[in-house]
Amino acid sequence: MKLAILGGSFNPVHLGHLYLAESALKMGYDRLVLVPAYSSPFKPGVRDVAPQDRLDMLAASAPADPCFAVDDCEIRREGVSYTIDTIADIIGRYCPEGKPGLILGDDLAEGFTGWRDYGKIIALADIIIARRFSSKPVSFPYPYRQLDNAILDISSRDIRSRIQGGGSWRYLIPEGARFIIEDRGLYGYRPEGAESAGPAGGARKNPALRAKGAARAEIARIEDAVRSLVSPSRFLHSRAVAALAWELCARFGQDPDRGYLAGIAHDIAKSMGENELKRFAKKDGKPLSALERKKPSLLHARAGATLLRECFGITDREVLAAVRDHTAGSSSMGPLEKIVYIADKIEPTRRNDQMNRGGADQGGGGGFGGSLDSLFASVVKDTVAYLRSRKLDLSEDTRGLLETMEKKGDS
Ligand SMILES: [Fe+2]
Ligand SMILES: [Fe+2]
Repeated sequence: MKLAILGGSFNPVHLGHLYLAESALKMGYDRLVLVPAYSSPFKPGVRDVAPQDRLDMLAASAPADPCFAVDDCEIRREGVSYTIDTIADIIGRYCPEGKPGLILGDDLAEGFTGWRDYGKIIALADIIIARRFSSKPVSFPYPYRQLDNAILDISSRDIRSRIQGGGSWRYLIPEGARFIIEDRGLYGYRPEGAESAGPAGGARKNPALRAKGAARAEIARIEDAVRSLVSPSRFLHSRAVAALAWELCARFGQDPDRGYLAGIAHDIAKSMGENELKRFAKKDGKPLSALERKKPSLLHARAGATLLRECFGITDREVLAAVRDHTAGSSSMGPLEKIVYIADKIEPTRRNDQMNRGGADQGGGGGFGGSLDSLFASVVKDTVAYLRSRKLDLSEDTRGLLETMEKKGDS
């Protein structure tokens, strides 16, 4: 196996690193080993983030591809990380075919003769010089291969100062690293609106911020699953429902993250086949109704709630209820269930839109005026009128919901 090595501080890892790694692989290598430094001889003062945090970010960002490896030899070794030690160690453990490639940025290449045991490095590895800041040829006194990479204007230093200063940075780095920065409060990260949360690193110490980070990680996990399980157009609908549920939760005093989670998950079972839908739906203990037997696609809501509980470990009962009841409603719906029901019916990308946001614009100005119950009643009425206009049967649950609303005088 032909191996190439890309070392660095990865403080933090960013898209430029992964792009460089992929470019080097295309030079004929089978595997690229990313090696985070414990303490770089070129940046001895850079200790604002623990080596373990940098390693964790890299591990969370490495592509799910056997061509990429992350090796922690320098961090385990501690002390100043010298390239010669790493090359010897990696050759000993990976037994590569031929000399491994060693990628150097052109900014470091010019000082190469100052590196410890640089002669041995040349003997053990093939040097690959990558462009970092300039497309001009470098002055390098030994044989090397030039990596034909584009220069991306992304640097870890710039990202650190953007995080510290509250600037835009999230999409310059891989998602896995982003979650770790947010969760651990690295580089002075503070969530928006959390200026009073305490010193940098607050998320690790502050239970409220930590819970926020965990909720975001859960959302990302479920969103990835939905993306892979449903069609692209269904995924976009799910995103739109999630965004609207988030907005409605903020408007009506509910937790927006739970609204987003229920919204993104609500159609997770939409692509299941009939047998699977029936098998998952029945696990909630309720028998199938005559209408559900006639039209099994209606079961995607019940099946989705079971799938989320059994296969994705979601335990939040209100989130599960919101998924279960988003199609037909039920006679005992809480605020989160009502919000997801509304969002599913009136989200703005819905194509066969029977209601065009229904009574949602009652407040004018594109906002949601009135109470949650009045908005919900308006959307239920429009939904039922639409079903009746198409001569579609109402489910038992929808009839139960209508009866409850009539008793309360909501209809
Ligand atoms: Fe649905
Ligand atoms: Fe939906």
